[in-house]
Amino acid sequence: MLLKLTLVMMMACITSSHIEATLQVGFYRDKCPFAEAIIKDVVKKSFIINQGIAPGIVRLQFHDCFVRGCDGSILLDSTPINQAEKDGPPNGITIRGLEVIDIAKARLEAVCKGVVSCADILAFAARDSVVLTGGLYWDVAAGRRDGRISRASETVDIPSPSFNLNQIIQSFANKGLTQGDMVALLGAHTIGRSHCFSFTDRLYNYSTRMMQDPNLNPYYAELLKQRCPRVLPQILNETLVVFMNQSPYLIDQSYYENLFEHAGLFISDQALLDSQTTSQQAAIYAANGLAWEVDFVKAMINLSQIQVLTGNQGEIRANCRVINPY
Ligand code: HEM
Repeated sequence: MLLKLTLVMMMACITSSHIEATLQVGFYRDKCPFAEAIIKDVVKKSFIINQGIAPGIVRLQFHDCFVRGCDGSILLDSTPINQAEKDGPPNGITIRGLEVIDIAKARLEAVCKGVVSCADILAFAARDSVVLTGGLYWDVAAGRRDGRISRASETVDIPSPSFNLNQIIQSFANKGLTQGDMVALLGAHTIGRSHCFSFTDRLYNYSTRMMQDPNLNPYYAELLKQRCPRVLPQILNETLVVFMNQSPYLIDQSYYENLFEHAGLFISDQALLDSQTTSQQAAIYAANGLAWEVDFVKAMINLSQIQVLTGNQGEIRANCRVINPY
């Protein structure tokens, strides 16, 4: 406990050293003093009803930041003339937690109209979700503004679960994140769930010569096959899910331990063992959960600052699902 407390204090220092000049810790202190407390309260109450919203929101933050930066563009709804990010292939039925952001936004608009951006709400809510699942706390630098553009076609920037190591390194590098950030961030797969269709190619359709991915632990593969049969009616295809690991609502280093048992769920997870540097980093995290959590926090801060809109850029949406009328 004492160790964790010390780490929390260290986090505050790490946070301030990584903040870009444009974002500030305590940004809403004068403008909307209870903003962070309101968001925390909404996330906490939603988590009590459904723990799944925590991993859902952490993933929303990742998907938001990888497309047009952390500008809340994932929260916008499609319109008759525009298919939005949230309806792009990596999102669609697999994303969750959007309604939590809506509730927080409604409560904030009631007390400080037009002040707190949807992009910032998501960044705070992602931090709160990590804390609720047992992860370390960090101060979120705020001041992001909301984008006005959201295109499903741009979700190609989000890496695919069938990517190999070079491809995932490249996709994170494209967003200004290092290989080290990437290895730490993938540990987010210690929480949450996956739909069967996101990985069943590894079980039934791996290559022209092999049905099953030889890099997948055969016992784990059998378990996955029981949960995810080969042929499914459409309705089950959309609803059948498996947990990412044995403790789906607890942030811990088990993700990295699983990799060394060849029980990473996606090809892109298992790929972390395909080079000496990434594999060594994963081994350090598997042996020392706190070392991972500290690096995870630093990487989440870097993630949450990708291509942010600040100052007079963008807008503060009144409703996170629609852009403001001119
Ligand atoms: C190579 C990079 C990544 C790939 C290919 C990837 C892919 C996926 C896929 C396919 C799912 C399951 C979706 C479903 O079928 O329901 C998933 C879930 C998840 N991902 Fe990732 N992901 C990556 C990186 C990240 C990062 C960087 C984070 C956060 C920092 C993250 C957080 C999560 C979380 C928390 C879930 C569980 C969501 C839930 O329970 O609703 N992922 N990811």
